[in-house]
Amino acid sequence: MSERKKVTLPTLFDKVAKGLPITMLTCYDYPTAYFQEQAGMDMILVGDSLAMTMLGYDSTLPATMDDMIRHTQAVRRGAPSVWLIGDMPYMSYQPSVETAIRNAGRFMAEASCDAIKLEGGVEMADRVAAVVRSGIPVMGHLGLTPQSVSALGGFRVQGKGAQQAMRIMESAKALEEAGAYAILLEMVPDRVCRLITERAEKCFIISLGSGPHAHGQLLIYHDMFGLYPNFTPKMAKVYGDAGKVILDGLKRYVAEVSDHTFPQPENWFRMPDEAYEELLRLLKQSKR
Ligand code: KIV
Repeated sequence: MSERKKVTLPTLFDKVAKGLPITMLTCYDYPTAYFQEQAGMDMILVGDSLAMTMLGYDSTLPATMDDMIRHTQAVRRGAPSVWLIGDMPYMSYQPSVETAIRNAGRFMAEASCDAIKLEGGVEMADRVAAVVRSGIPVMGHLGLTPQSVSALGGFRVQGKGAQQAMRIMESAKALEEAGAYAILLEMVPDRVCRLITERAEKCFIISLGSGPHAHGQLLIYHDMFGLYPNFTPKMAKVYGDAGKVILDGLKRYVAEVSDHTFPQPENWFRMPDEAYEELLRLLKQSKR
């Protein structure tokens, strides 16, 4: 069991008030959640990026509510004290306010989440307000919003031009007014992130590839450890090449089974001689 005190909204806002950066990573499974809990992570996002990182799709769109709930439950079992955020998958909140409330409620009731995250700005402010009114903390997500990747023209920086940056800033204010406790800025220029962070009064800002001025940082776990074979985004810092360690181990296993150096006696279980003799005797008796 974890010895840590549960991370709550007051814990997070207290860090912000003291100027202490908030730490956040994605996570999709029990063992990784266990390690993140031990490392002292403040917040975990069970992102719909699991469609790509865990299920091998080429976008986040195929993730379903049932996929999200299953993985989020596993993460909660591994990380009981982190601030746990369930990511609302594609079309789990866009159709209507009611759909948004119902699916946000599933994350809380079925997966013991602390909050949910949804993508979009001004156009999603009514969803944010309604979910917040239902008693569920909401994190907004602006900039590169992967569920709209087709409309955005690909995985690219958002808000490089003044007009687009202005729209992102207006959306940040709309989300804050709607009651979002936090906003994730993904792949927004650092200067825009700084302006939004300086203007945030009732919420805090988390950066994913948006520079150092936010109240906290997020990375995708698989990018940090070389675990996503298709690509590593420029903004990711690789803290260790676990992918290489695993691949090397797998190759050794294949080689050792093939040349009979695995298994060795410590890898199997022996039957005592007497029991074996007795077994042979019984076999003989039964004429098998
Ligand atoms: O699904 C996810 O992991 C996300 C991140 C890209 C922020 O939404």
